[in-house]
Amino acid sequence: MTRDIHTVDDVMTMLDGLFSEGADRWTDEGSAWWDGFYADRSKPVPFFVPKPDESLAAQVESGGIAPGRVLELGCGPGRNALYLAGKGFDVDAVDLSPAALDWARERAREAGAQVRFHHGDIFGPVLAGKGPYDLVYDSGCFHHLPPHRRVGYLALLDRVLAPGGHFMLTCFAAGGMGCELPDAQLYRDRSLHGGLAYTEEALRRVFGAYEPVELRLMRAQSDESAYFGEDFLWTGLFRKSGGEAGRE
Ligand SMILES: C[S@@+](CC[C@H](N)C(=O)[O-])C[C@H]1O[C@@H](n2cnc3c(N)ncnc32)[C@H](O)[C@@H]1O
Repeated sequence: MTRDIHTVDDVMTMLDGLFSEGADRWTDEGSAWWDGFYADRSKPVPFFVPKPDESLAAQVESGGIAPGRVLELGCGPGRNALYLAGKGFDVDAVDLSPAALDWARERAREAGAQVRFHHGDIFGPVLAGKGPYDLVYDSGCFHHLPPHRRVGYLALLDRVLAPGGHFMLTCFAAGGMGCELPDAQLYRDRSLHGGLAYTEEALRRVFGAYEPVELRLMRAQSDESAYFGEDFLWTGLFRKSGGEAGRE
């Protein structure tokens, strides 16, 4: 008999373990799954293109987000981190998958971009002591987290975001892509079914501690576009209160 649950971390780990192997894409054990996913770089995966999110570029180019310190969560092969570095941001980018980071570092070398890539789990020691950041960026990581990991995700945002800082997210939009089953059903099924869909209302509630600056569907982009965009994804920009006088 085991009676090993004493802390919130123990509860999180126990709940992680309810999900079957292979569905686990958000803990250290998930890195092998992602390495396999990135093994063939010629696969027609939309986000394998070396282009930044159209929504991120629109904010940066309009001055909605000013250059500063950035943390990218689940950066994959680094397309957004590289774009931000090229625009004068100071970038830390973290991912579970060594294969994704090898690809990202190659891209950075080719582009002559300076990005600090870190290997690890966003809930693990890799981010200990890091921050504060003016921008936390997540394109496609959050929707792979199981419901109980939202708790740690929000705590992480709270800890690393500077007062007045921005959080920007791209995630599956209900009705477009992703699993729409209720949270509790995911635990009964022991599967996230490939990633979670969110409604606009759900995002407003989950990130309710922050001021929503923009929340819209991404704009689909043509092959010729310099940007990545798919209309089955939400893009959200949120702002933490505080910061410079007059911005409260
Ligand atoms: C759908 S991919 C998106 C990659 C990249 N952001 C992009 O848009 O090109 C999700 C990424 O999140 C990473 N990931 C998932 N859970 C993670 C965690 N707990 N810590 C760090 N990275 C994680 C995966 O390794 C994967 O590269």
